[in-house]
Amino acid sequence: MNYIDWLSRKDLEYRDGGLYFANLNTLGIAEKFRTPIYIINEKTIRKRYRELKDTLNSGYKKNKIYFAVKSNTNLSILKILVSERSNFDCSSTGEIHACLSSGISPERIIYTGNMFTNNDFKFAIDNDILTNLDSYSQLIRLANLYEKNGKDKRILSFRFNPEFGAGHHPHTITAGKEIKFGILENQMIKVYSKARDLGFKKFGIHQHIGSGIINAKDYEKPIEKFITIIEKLSSQLGIQFEFVDFGGGLGIPYRPEQDPLDLNIYSEIVFTRFKEIVEKGEIGEPFLFIEPGRYISAESSIILTQINTIKDNGYKLFAGLDAGFNTLIRPTMYGSYHHIINCNEKHKKKILKYDIVGPICESGDVLGKDRELPELNEGDYLAILDAGAYGYTMSSPYNSRPRPAELLINDGNLYKIRNEETFDDLIRNQTVPDYLK
Ligand code: LLP
Repeated sequence: MNYIDWLSRKDLEYRDGGLYFANLNTLGIAEKFRTPIYIINEKTIRKRYRELKDTLNSGYKKNKIYFAVKSNTNLSILKILVSERSNFDCSSTGEIHACLSSGISPERIIYTGNMFTNNDFKFAIDNDILTNLDSYSQLIRLANLYEKNGKDKRILSFRFNPEFGAGHHPHTITAGKEIKFGILENQMIKVYSKARDLGFKKFGIHQHIGSGIINAKDYEKPIEKFITIIEKLSSQLGIQFEFVDFGGGLGIPYRPEQDPLDLNIYSEIVFTRFKEIVEKGEIGEPFLFIEPGRYISAESSIILTQINTIKDNGYKLFAGLDAGFNTLIRPTMYGSYHHIINCNEKHKKKILKYDIVGPICESGDVLGKDRELPELNEGDYLAILDAGAYGYTMSSPYNSRPRPAELLINDGNLYKIRNEETFDDLIRNQTVPDYLK
């Protein structure tokens, strides 16, 4: 993909040296609002959702997309996806609360937690949320709580760990014997037959192999194993599945030289074997679910940030920003690459190499290493790309720096969809014992 096309995929372009995002001049935005600031482009969210929906529809009509809320929990994003008729994958009761607060009905939520507490289960039972378990002991506790509550044990799902994982970093690979997630092959028969004995009537099955997968072929082996276990559960226990959930993990091109995930290859891998076993008539007529987070939200968002300090230490050049790993932790946590570009390239001819660093009191606060950029000056604005997934949701108030605001662009209009935190927000929940007052 050439650079201009790569930028335009993210709705970015330079006009007369100025960077435009979703048709708006980023410099104009930077002058109106306090930086750093997250800016989300509604159009990209809808576009990516529809791309995936069309892909699924073209192969298997009975499908549902569950947006992985952990990638972006902003209520306006949830509302946009509600209007697209999306469903929602939640990893915690807090995420479920955000969904319910956005008017999302419980039957559109799947709760794939891990290390569930009894309070998590009570919350799920009280709110009629479909739960996706990942241990035998959780099943016993959940069934007990259903008994106590007197509610019908309607439907249940288990997360399978296929032992073949993939992801952009070891921390984001979620399959394998050493990994805490899911149930290994040798316990799958046991958990489903016990669930049936305990009175659960309908079943789904789930796997999620990891996150940030850009090569669709990485799905091949785990899906083959997934299909084998589904067939085994059907043939040995006679289970008919209400849904088969293939998880998320679909990656995006963070680097200009990367090509996007090939949705044709992805869908062929997902559909081929799945349709074969459905057509055999052995596993029922399940819905096909997927749970993408990053694919839908990542490219929708940039962080606008201002350079406060240019420092030449005689050895290398640093460009110091008002955004740091408190704003975007992915580079520090996973060594992730986020492309960083000038908001204004006019009259800038000289290309220099910089480490782009934040204001956090740690040497690891580096957002981009050895980046070649048209000469930077103090006061200039930069855009950090692809910040819409695991950006704000993983931000923190470390060093007592309040979290930034979020803006939404819809059809050329800007909406402030989250205020910046204040100093008072940071100390609001603390209480000082009387003897210290
Ligand atoms: N479903 C389950 C059960 C998951 O655990 C996840 C992500 C997803 C779906 C969505 O994955 P996605 O389509 O967004 O890749 N903080 C890391 C990513 C961790 C993802 C954890 N689980 C990052 O910034 O790359």
